[in-house]
Amino acid sequence: MNFIKIAGSILLLITLQTRAQNNSPLVVKADQIKATIQPTMWGIFFEDINFGADGGIYAELIKNRSFEFARPKMGWKVLGKPATEGDFLVINRGNENTNNPRFLRVALHNNAPRSIGLSNEGFRGMGIKKDNRYDFSMLVHCKGDGVKLLLELVNSKDEVIGKQNLLVNTTGDEWKKVSTSFLSTATVANGKFNIWFEGDGEIDVDMISLFPADTWKNRPGGMRADMVQLLADMKPGFIRFPGGCIVEGFDLTRRYQWKKTIGPIEERQLIINRWNTEFANRQAPDYFQTFGLGFFEYFQLAEDVGAEPLPILNCGMACQFNSGEVAPLNQLDPYIQDALDLIEFANGPVTSQWGKVRADMGHAQPFNLKMMGVGNENWGPQYVERLQLFMKAIKSKYPEFKIVSSSGTDPDGGRFNYLNTELRKMKTDFVDEHYYRSPEWFLSNAARYDNYERSSTKIFAGEYAAHVDWDTPGIRRNNWLSALSEAAFMTGLERNADVVEMASYAPLFAHVDGWQWAPDLIWANNLTSYGSPNYQVQKMFSLNKGTHVVPLLQNNSPVSGKDSLYATACIDKKNGELVLKFVNVSGNSVIKDILLEGIKKVPATATQVVLSAPLNTVNSFEHTAAVVPVEKSIMLKSRKVTLQLIPYSFTIYRIKML
Ligand code: AHR
Repeated sequence: MNFIKIAGSILLLITLQTRAQNNSPLVVKADQIKATIQPTMWGIFFEDINFGADGGIYAELIKNRSFEFARPKMGWKVLGKPATEGDFLVINRGNENTNNPRFLRVALHNNAPRSIGLSNEGFRGMGIKKDNRYDFSMLVHCKGDGVKLLLELVNSKDEVIGKQNLLVNTTGDEWKKVSTSFLSTATVANGKFNIWFEGDGEIDVDMISLFPADTWKNRPGGMRADMVQLLADMKPGFIRFPGGCIVEGFDLTRRYQWKKTIGPIEERQLIINRWNTEFANRQAPDYFQTFGLGFFEYFQLAEDVGAEPLPILNCGMACQFNSGEVAPLNQLDPYIQDALDLIEFANGPVTSQWGKVRADMGHAQPFNLKMMGVGNENWGPQYVERLQLFMKAIKSKYPEFKIVSSSGTDPDGGRFNYLNTELRKMKTDFVDEHYYRSPEWFLSNAARYDNYERSSTKIFAGEYAAHVDWDTPGIRRNNWLSALSEAAFMTGLERNADVVEMASYAPLFAHVDGWQWAPDLIWANNLTSYGSPNYQVQKMFSLNKGTHVVPLLQNNSPVSGKDSLYATACIDKKNGELVLKFVNVSGNSVIKDILLEGIKKVPATATQVVLSAPLNTVNSFEHTAAVVPVEKSIMLKSRKVTLQLIPYSFTIYRIKML
């Protein structure tokens, strides 16, 4: 198996390196500032892939709530026996409502209780919690004397675990929203939701919705609190959104358009999720984007967790692996206008057109957007000429606004080299580099930025993850080997914080029964979620970010791979701490002396945080804490400290600077 090969080759590498152990001490110079670490340094990449948004963090339990999926009744089942053909009729009102054209018309014929109904299966079932409140709502339009609804949550054996009656008695031609709430009596991972219809006449239904009440900040129609909490715990510097390839779309009609993701949810036009059928072996024909988590909710999330928003917009090019179609240059204006309008939506005064829309949605204060990506993984001269037009328009209106530009899909090769040269000539603020590579690549590229071009153009390591061999499936791809090699690589990012100002692992979320792409930072099922070992690494870097890089050297060189060791040092001026990070990728303990220079007095103790495990260890729903940091206090006797770095470990020392 490749995994064994990879692990084996690391071991070989390490054995060779340990034989030639270098005994000169490490030296840290706490009073020599090399670079400022930006508050944005460690962030989050969010894309609706792997049921990350719909079916994931967006807490809606009903799948296909507005009958707009390609197959309009997907996710729904008729309960009982309809009396006549067409009693459950999907009606398409076409131009009358282009954003949400379909609804379901249910014809009733003096139906008795529980004789006819609809059942929704949820995304991969519904996660229901005992004693939790569930909020039901629906748009209706009724003919006749009214219809009695019986709403039921049921478990996988169809036993009722929560119910409520609702009388729908609307008059007139207008659609009305009806709503009610009820409690669940049991916890189940695979619940379903039934609506029974009783009475006579006709009832039209649309936007059938069921939300748990215990969302993040208890926001109605909000996000899953457990999943947001994992993000908040990372204290991310930024959130990149909405992707990823989602930005580009298979073709331009299916690109991500932020204006279609704001305002009342029934007016947000659903599109097919581009990951729906992307991979033949991981098809998800029921994967759509409802945009219930749209751009307003995204800005709000970033604000909630204290992160800078970093939206990525389509640059007039669809995914070059798919259709590759482009908007002609003379038709790029609407794309550029979208970018300008997004800045106004985020920052504009409430008197501006888009600032008013934001205020009407409940956020009069600006979101303080400072940067934006133009294009995701686009390449070639076609990209450069489009980016130039975007940059000209954005910079002339907002000179301080930062632009992130794409360097394509790979961190090297012809396409990358071409863009790297062109983008730097254009003085773009950030180049977005992506690395989905083997653990070995991460180890051997940990010094990538040590001698990198230092110019006004900074690096955004916008998507990265160490990929172990493809025979390893699902959550097992997030093993400690992958996380450890990322930790080693990240020491190089931190050491070069004057070049690299932002970095984010990708992708973020995966539903264990609905993923298309692995590895992923956080795994979720219908009820719970946990951070992978890679999450723990990201979190440790982020929580121990520091404010300034200081030299950590051996024989005057950075510590990047010699004797299996990767290291970096920073000080945290806010906490008055020296923070040392060490990654030992060998199966042996590495014992090293380090001299603490540039601090006035050595404190008696320091804090040590260690993350370590055998290389194939993963976290899982059964063992969420197989790889978690262990913190303890250690004694310091003098300026010379002997470090004992255990096998396969990532260790942080926090030393108070007295
Ligand atoms: O992270 C998954 C995908 O990888 C992203 O959508 C894309 O940008 C990259 O190719």
